[in-house]
Amino acid sequence: MNLRRCAVLYLEPREELDIDWAALFAGTSTLAASTRWLALAPHLDREIEVDAADLAALAAVGSSVWTAHADLAQRHGAAVVDRLLAHGLLLAEDAAPDSAPGALRARDDTLRTLHWRPLAALAHTFSRWHDVRSDTGMEAPSFDELLERHGNPPPPVQQVASIGAAVALPAPTGFLDEVLLRRYTGRNYDTSASLPLAVAARLLQRTFGAQEVRHIGPHANVLKKTSPSGGGLHPVEAFVLVQRVDGLAPGLYHYHPVDNTLQPLRATTPDQAAALALQMVADQYWLAGAAMQVVMVGRVERSFWKYRNHQKAYRAMSLDAGHLSQTFYLLATEAGLPAFITAAINDIDIETMLELDHLRHAVIAVCGCGVAASGEREMVELRYGETGLGQVAE
Ligand SMILES: Cc1cc2nc3c(=O)[nH]c(=O)nc-3n(C[C@H](O)[C@H](O)[C@H](O)COP(=O)(O)O)c2cc1C
Repeated sequence: MNLRRCAVLYLEPREELDIDWAALFAGTSTLAASTRWLALAPHLDREIEVDAADLAALAAVGSSVWTAHADLAQRHGAAVVDRLLAHGLLLAEDAAPDSAPGALRARDDTLRTLHWRPLAALAHTFSRWHDVRSDTGMEAPSFDELLERHGNPPPPVQQVASIGAAVALPAPTGFLDEVLLRRYTGRNYDTSASLPLAVAARLLQRTFGAQEVRHIGPHANVLKKTSPSGGGLHPVEAFVLVQRVDGLAPGLYHYHPVDNTLQPLRATTPDQAAALALQMVADQYWLAGAAMQVVMVGRVERSFWKYRNHQKAYRAMSLDAGHLSQTFYLLATEAGLPAFITAAINDIDIETMLELDHLRHAVIAVCGCGVAASGEREMVELRYGETGLGQVAE
C-alpha cells in the first residue's frame, strides 16, 4: 500500500491555561499552561489532536509523491501510521471508493481539484458554525454591556497625519439619496405579515438575477447583474427560505438567476420554515422573524476556475456577497421595507439543509427582508433622523 499526506495541513500549537493547584498551595504562580498540537485539514472538517510521533511521521511523507506504507511503518511504527491513515491525515493510493479510507481520499481529491488557496480553505472550513444557539454560545451584547466589558471603543474616525488644511467638500446631492438615507437594518419584523410576491420577485431578480447573458465561447457564458463581481464570474447565488410570501409555499428554494424562477428544494410548514430561519441565523429571532431569508452561497468552482490557488479569490467572493447585500437592502428600502444581513450563521446546518459540500459551496451570509412591526420597538435599529439607538424594551 502507498501513502501520501493530505493536500492541505496546518498544525496549531494551542495553549490552554488552568489553575496550578500545587503552585497555588505553595504560594507561587497560580496558572499552568499546557500545549496541544492540533492538525487542521480542510478536507476533514474537524480538528485532530496529534503528538510528537505523529508529527515526525507526517513530516516524513510528501503530499504529492506516494510513499510505501511498509517503509513508513518501519521508521515510525505501524500504530502511528495506521492512526494517521484512519484520521485521514495520511491517504491510501489504492483505497476502495466505498471504504472509510476511500471516502477520506475522495474528500482530499475534491480539495485538490477545486484549486483552493490552502490558507483560504483553512479559514473557510474552520470558521463555520454548527448549532450555535443562544444557549450554546451565541451572544448579542448590547452597546451598554460592551461599554461595561471593554471600556470605550476606539474613536469612530481615525486620526491621520495630514500635511495641510482639510479640504471641505460640497454637500452631496443625487437621486439615490432618498433611498440611501432611508436604508437601515431591520430587527423588528411583523411575524404575521407577508411580502407581496411582486416585491419578493423584484428583490431577487434585481439583486441576484441576470440582466443579460454574454457569450464568451460556444459553451461559456458570463452574466451581467446589478452588482459588480470579482472577475465578472458572479459565483454568489441565492438560496431562499420562504416563510411568508404571497402565492409561494413555505420552504427552501434555489433562485435561478437567468430564468428568474424559484426552484423548490424542500416544502415546509410555516412552523418548520420559522424553525429553519432561527437555526440559520443562530437564534437571532429579531432577524428570523423577517418574511424571507436569502442564503448567499459562493460557487467555489465558478470562481476558482479563473482564480486558481489565488491569494485573493476567497476575499473577492466574500466582497461579492457584500455588494449583493447592499443592492438587496436598497431594493427593500425602495419598497418601504427593512432588510438585514448577518454573518453570524450556522453555516454547517445550512449546508445540511441545502445539501451543500462546503468545499464546493461556500455559505457566506444570510440576508432577508420583511414588513416592519408597528408599535414599540423591542430591538435596536439605526433609522435615519432618529436619535439614540431606537427604542429598546428590556
Ligand atoms: C457583515 C455584516 C454582518 C452583520 N451581522 C449582523 C448580525 O449578526 N446581527 C444583526 O442584528 N445585525 C448584523 N449586521 C447589521 C449591522 O449590525 C448594522 O449594519 C449596523 O449596526 C449598522 O446599522 P444600519 O445597517 O441600520 O446602518 C451585520 C452587518 C454586516 C455588514
